[in-house]
Amino acid sequence: MTNIFLLKRDITTSKTLRAVCGRGLPPLAHLAPELFAGAGHICLATDRTCLNKFKRTFKKTLGRRWDGTDIFVLPAGRAAKTFRALEGLLSFMLKRGFSRNSLLIAAGGGSVTDLAGLAASLYMRGINWISVPTTFLGQIDAGLGGKTAVDLGGVKNMAGAFYQPALTVCDAAFLQTLGPGELRAGAGELLKYALIGPEALRRRILKSIEDALKGDAKALQELVSACADFKLSLTARDERDETGVRELLNLGHTAGHAFEALSKGRLAHGRAVLWGLRYACLLSIRLKTLEPAQQRTVSGILWGTEAAPLPAACFNFRAFYRLICYDKKAGAGKNRFLLIERPGRITAVNDIAPGILKGTLTALKRR
Ligand SMILES: NC(=O)c1ccc[n+]([C@@H]2O[C@H](COP(=O)([O-])OP(=O)(O)OC[C@H]3O[C@@H](n4cnc5c(N)ncnc54)[C@H](O)[C@@H]3O)[C@@H](O)[C@H]2O)c1
Repeated sequence: MTNIFLLKRDITTSKTLRAVCGRGLPPLAHLAPELFAGAGHICLATDRTCLNKFKRTFKKTLGRRWDGTDIFVLPAGRAAKTFRALEGLLSFMLKRGFSRNSLLIAAGGGSVTDLAGLAASLYMRGINWISVPTTFLGQIDAGLGGKTAVDLGGVKNMAGAFYQPALTVCDAAFLQTLGPGELRAGAGELLKYALIGPEALRRRILKSIEDALKGDAKALQELVSACADFKLSLTARDERDETGVRELLNLGHTAGHAFEALSKGRLAHGRAVLWGLRYACLLSIRLKTLEPAQQRTVSGILWGTEAAPLPAACFNFRAFYRLICYDKKAGAGKNRFLLIERPGRITAVNDIAPGILKGTLTALKRR
């Protein structure tokens, strides 16, 4: 399969969103020579796991710029998305004399790209950054689109910025070292695309999902290109999440983020999103937004793939309700859910009565 270059022109800012998807991609300086020509210092932000696994790849991709690149190692997983880690990376760049012409490369899962993207937006009010997602979830979603964040007070992504990477590079070669659990963490976001995307994307995902989750290289690469293309096209129509187009990407995330936070690290983001989608499906049935003729199809899509059980802490309704009221689109103390009408058609509903939300959580426990 050849490399696919994705270029999307943002309709409000005319900025071009750029990503390249493929396998064994050329060095970064070949993909974006202008970013390297102008860059004084370069910082590679990654985590220990990725550095151990991919040091040779990073060296190769940076070519003659490897010598002189400063490497900042973040904690692996959700521990990267803290103010402490953010300050650590910013202070590191300050001490090394980084300027506005410096370049930050974030290579890792969504935790690394979310944190490093935020650091890039803040350092001297913004420096160029390149996103190199290394997980399946990162390549189909987190590493693209310019939403960056850290967690705050136990709530997911409460402090962040919209800050586009100058380039996103999705190289399927990174996905070879993911274990079955890490691959499965991509299932939630994949099924989200199957429910919000057009018919052709849905068919493609449903045809290849099980192969991809088993690590089939061709299926993974095909789904990464298709999902990256779709995500960038939504982002380009609503970069700052203001018109409702981009909000579609939040399907399953209101409950999903609450489950992820309540599990205190036991439930990976992608797995929490799959449960969040199931919750949204049950709520859509309860509130009768989901057309009766579509209920079997949608349930089949969401319950057709294996999911680790939800930890008991996720069924604490009071804690769950507090967290869902932090949804950035809902007013203070209110809730807002994206619900399904049919695959490809989503609607937003505000202020759902707590009793209905509680009943849905109980129904989810019973399924
Ligand atoms: N910004 C966005 O639009 C967006 C979208 C979706 C999710 N997210 C965020 O992404 C985060 C989850 O990201 P994730 O699922 O990539 O997990 P992660 O970044 O937390 O990484 C999970 C683990 O995988 C390891 N890892 C990374 N690449 C690997 C590889 N190639 N081989 C083996 N191990 C590897 C990491 O070291 C880490 O231990 C969440 O914080 C979520 O909020 C952001």
